[in-house]
Amino acid sequence: MPFDDAAQQTFADGETRAEPKRVFMRTFGCQMNVYDSERMSEALAAEGYVETSNPADADLAILNTCHIREKAAEKVYSDLGRLRDIKLARGKGGKETVIAVAGCVAQAEGSEIVRRAPAVDLVVGPQSYHRLPELLARLRGGENALVETAFPDEDKFAALPKRLPAKSPTAFLTVQEGCDKFCTFCVVPYTRGMEYSRPVSALVDEARRLVDRGVKELTLLGQNVNGYHGERAEGDAASLAGLIRELAKIGGLDRIRYMTSHPRDMTDDLIAAHRDEDKLMPFLHLPFQAASDRVLAAMNRKHTADDYRALIARIRAARPDIALSTDIIVGFPGESDEDFEATLALVSEIGFAHAFSFKYSPRPGTPAATIDPQVPEDVKRDRLERLQQLVEAGYARFNGALVGQTIPVLFEKAGRRDGQLVGRSPYWQLVHADAPVSMIGQIVDVTIDSAKANSLSGVTAMPI
Ligand code: SAH
Ligand code: SF4
Ligand code: F3S
Repeated sequence: MPFDDAAQQTFADGETRAEPKRVFMRTFGCQMNVYDSERMSEALAAEGYVETSNPADADLAILNTCHIREKAAEKVYSDLGRLRDIKLARGKGGKETVIAVAGCVAQAEGSEIVRRAPAVDLVVGPQSYHRLPELLARLRGGENALVETAFPDEDKFAALPKRLPAKSPTAFLTVQEGCDKFCTFCVVPYTRGMEYSRPVSALVDEARRLVDRGVKELTLLGQNVNGYHGERAEGDAASLAGLIRELAKIGGLDRIRYMTSHPRDMTDDLIAAHRDEDKLMPFLHLPFQAASDRVLAAMNRKHTADDYRALIARIRAARPDIALSTDIIVGFPGESDEDFEATLALVSEIGFAHAFSFKYSPRPGTPAATIDPQVPEDVKRDRLERLQQLVEAGYARFNGALVGQTIPVLFEKAGRRDGQLVGRSPYWQLVHADAPVSMIGQIVDVTIDSAKANSLSGVTAMPI
């Protein structure tokens, strides 16, 4: 039911108020946080909250945070400074503001956050979002500085309310959380806990509901999504390929993607799904992190550069046009010039359509943070710059090869220019084309006429 600001509203908690409560949410980090933020706003909508993009209007401000690199974690504290000022200013006008920190910084730092930023009222880890309404009620009841970072036994996904109407024809669906791989640079096993896969039936239900509400493309999410092993009705565990096959049966769902995968879990049945399953898009994000076997061993990746090469060869044999994407870290402790050259060489050899590259950032509590020697900051910066140039040349090459081709594009939203829509190619690039708004949510053939590093443009093949 839409809210009428002027009218009296009765909310789920039985209270009647003249105005809805407003929540401001800022999301950092990976797509799993984006998904979690959506689920939190759904839980809060059931409590009568509407979203606002202006923190000064917010009765509740939530920062959904990321701990993966130092910069991401530190951004939270500068935001908290701004929110504290807003809270003070609103307080002078007699308005209360609840400040909450969610996500991976909440999980990693817990009560330390309240110590550093005393304006924070609530710290809630990623496994406890279904308890938000109860935690907010406790704050209203006079408790303060609540910290909820346990890994409870109950399934947060089952306890969260059902999905609201989709805002876009594409949606994320978290199928797996956590990680047991303990790469020596990474905080995820500490912030998201052990690997957990949601049962197939719960995911099929959620996917159906999303499709009923207009979703055409689902991206299945997990920190180790290809390690998925969710319970099936038959009592055994389904692999990610098995789950994809189940989801592909849903009429009206046209496209499936998944991320992020680990090379060690890239099984034969998943590779075969890229050959056999039409709805599975020809795009794969498969981080290799580094190409020196010595560095890979120190990272505890448990694969070599040759393993990665062989894997890519098998994937390309199954699906020759697949667009490959990756994550790369430069300046891992002990990385020599020669090690770094190996990374550059592997990037050139594979030919990625897309890549994220990062300077190694020592994270508290992870084994790599105490390895001696660490690589100096200026060396990391130079390496990152060189790598990014190479990676961008790769984007240009991949995108350039699509010029002249006609490819199906799922239009997602209006573009910046009037009359223009933006969608994605099967290979994940953004595609701009002139088309009427009524084509949002449709898959339309577009003939690509120009390519930039980060997007493509073209004309729709269908008469408008
Ligand atoms: N599960 C995925 C990655 C999740 S984290 C995988 O195994 O590949 C996303 C990316 O952040 C990683 O792939 C890595 O490239 C980067 N990353 C993680 N920890 C980092 C750190 N301490 N410093 C720099 N980059 C890091
Ligand atoms: Fe982190 Fe990915 Fe390694 Fe897990 S597999 S520890 S999420 S980099
Ligand atoms: Fe960041 Fe947590 Fe995702 S640390 S990358 S938000 S899993």
